[in-house]
Amino acid sequence: MKNLYKNHLLKVLNTFDVIMQKHSYDQVILYSGDEKVVYLDDNLYPFKVYINFKYFAPVLNYPNSFIIYKSSEKPKLILLQKIDFWDSQPHALKGICCDFFDISYYNNLEDMRKQLPSKLKNTAFLGEEIIRFQNYGFKSLNNQKIINHIHYHRCFKSQYEVECMRKANQIASTAHKTAKEAFLSGKSELQTHLAYLEAIAYKEAEVPYENIVAFDESCSILHYHNYRKNKFLAKSFLLDAGASYNGYHADITRTFAKKEYTAFHELIEAVNQSTLNIISKIKIGMNYEVLQEQMHLDASAIISNFKFMNISSDEIYEKKYSKLFSPAGVGHYIGLQVHDIGNTLLDENGTLIEKSKNHPRLRLRKNIEIGNVFTIEPGIYIIDQLLKPYYGKKEFNWDVISKFRVFGGARIEDSVYVSNNNVENLTRPYLN
Ligand code: GLY
Ligand code: MN
Ligand code: MN
Repeated sequence: MKNLYKNHLLKVLNTFDVIMQKHSYDQVILYSGDEKVVYLDDNLYPFKVYINFKYFAPVLNYPNSFIIYKSSEKPKLILLQKIDFWDSQPHALKGICCDFFDISYYNNLEDMRKQLPSKLKNTAFLGEEIIRFQNYGFKSLNNQKIINHIHYHRCFKSQYEVECMRKANQIASTAHKTAKEAFLSGKSELQTHLAYLEAIAYKEAEVPYENIVAFDESCSILHYHNYRKNKFLAKSFLLDAGASYNGYHADITRTFAKKEYTAFHELIEAVNQSTLNIISKIKIGMNYEVLQEQMHLDASAIISNFKFMNISSDEIYEKKYSKLFSPAGVGHYIGLQVHDIGNTLLDENGTLIEKSKNHPRLRLRKNIEIGNVFTIEPGIYIIDQLLKPYYGKKEFNWDVISKFRVFGGARIEDSVYVSNNNVENLTRPYLN
């Protein structure tokens, strides 16, 4: 892992060398971020490090800290280590990045300015702009040209980043298996969520996005977080939950049902086959929107086969009825962010690709390229808000739809890595 990280850091430093050359800077400073206090309170929100800070190094828990990089010099890490008996004291940094940085510590926030070089007039600052930085004399604060350049290159993952995401998928898979057992044994939504966290010893603030733990009709709510605390005899369970490794994320969805609900089991399996089918179509150079169309072709066939509608699969697709049952995008880039940046960045100058007219919900608008990691997450849902305008229409089999309404819906989500000769599923080695 250390060697992979070394090569990753070389790639990052090289990207910054090019940026500094192109935009006439001699130094760049990244700020990890400040802790946030609840309005009129003294409680802190969980700290989330600046994303491009963790692109350099997996240093996730050091607010008010800096990375300083000057071309051809060893990068520096300056970490705040507050000496304060009220709080647990941060330990000296450990881990794979330590050998590649000159590391120093400071103890008092008031001394922040003294930690940085005295002259900053050719220095680019990147990070959250708190007021104190405005009079430090940086050449720029968050120059958008620099940010575009970094974000464009973040779409091409290093071997280290891919390995981190394999590990994140492995961790999340362990918790998925435990949560499935919790559901089958009759736990509530909240208990199932807690079982997920406990399985991997995560605090709630450590999951990369709020877990979606939905039973029965709630499976149709795409961003359901309102975990019910009471136990009831649930039939179906949709779990969309991830994990992280060195700041890189997994984003996995599975749907389950109690054994006796065979028709819904068949629907889950049809969606599962769609996920695998869409993945099998991935080709370098193909626009990602082709996969969105494939999702709708598959959804149309499912809607027809399960007799949600009594018209042909072709007609369902052509009349766009599949969007009523499958309204989301087929996926998105993933990496340091769950919805990783760069989904619409055409080049390093920041040229943006417009939303798809046909699929405005589709985040990822680019061609598929070597090094990309993205999710594939088709689903079929019974969403009454979408179906309501069609109530009573004869193309729909409302009896069948009503039978499935109690299960809510099914989504199956994996992540894939595109290399020059392979499309690697990062999720399946750990979870069926
Ligand atoms: N869990 C968020 C998503 O699937 O995009
Ligand atoms: Mn996703
Ligand atoms: Mn998800």
